[in-house]
Amino acid sequence: MLAHPLNFQHNIAELEDDSCKVRKTGLASMLETLVFMKTLCNFLIKNPDPTIVPVYAFQDCGWQSNGNYMYTYDMERLIPLSRYEKKIIRSSADGFFERGLFPSENHSEVIADGKKDYPGLLEFLENVMRLGHYGDINEGNFMMDTMGQYRIIDLEGFYHVPLNHTKNLWFQ
Ligand SMILES: Nc1ncnc2c1ncn2[C@@H]1O[C@H](COP(=O)(O)OP(=O)(O)OP(=O)(O)O)[C@@H](O)[C@H]1O
Ligand SMILES: [Mg+2]
Repeated sequence: MLAHPLNFQHNIAELEDDSCKVRKTGLASMLETLVFMKTLCNFLIKNPDPTIVPVYAFQDCGWQSNGNYMYTYDMERLIPLSRYEKKIIRSSADGFFERGLFPSENHSEVIADGKKDYPGLLEFLENVMRLGHYGDINEGNFMMDTMGQYRIIDLEGFYHVPLNHTKNLWFQ
């Protein structure tokens, strides 16, 4: 039986020699997911995106005896969001996935308050949702850089099944 391509496993490690970077280790059960992550990371290294964590290096560690392909990517260490920002993201994601609403169309109390207190966050979420490249929209997958710009982390969330999904083609 074929393993599911989205059977990713991850681990975030500190880079011992660099406090500004972190290294994420991933295990992909299929070669095509490893290739996807490699192509995506190398694209982002060459074409930095202001809404995505800066990526510095990708390493293909090859097939492992546990039956997975291992890889790592190094990225800028970003700043965690507040509980209030996470609550706004959670509400926005619920509205989007459960009712098909973009934040600009969502008039719930949390979103309405969020538009006053964190207009930049709502604008960021609106853009991410309208663009449609990123699928794993949840409060754990966004952080902030030192300039106050919101950014996507967790790059595996760009992978849409199946691999030839049109949403996967924006960088290839
Ligand atoms: N660039 C980064 N800077 C600082 N911390 C990070 C960074 N990337 C990831 N982390 C930390 O690691 C956690 C998990 O990261 P990520 O969401 O990429 O991994 P994951 O294994 O896919 O997790 P999950 O399955 O919970 O989505 C983040 O919530 C954050 O605390
Ligand atoms: Mg995550």
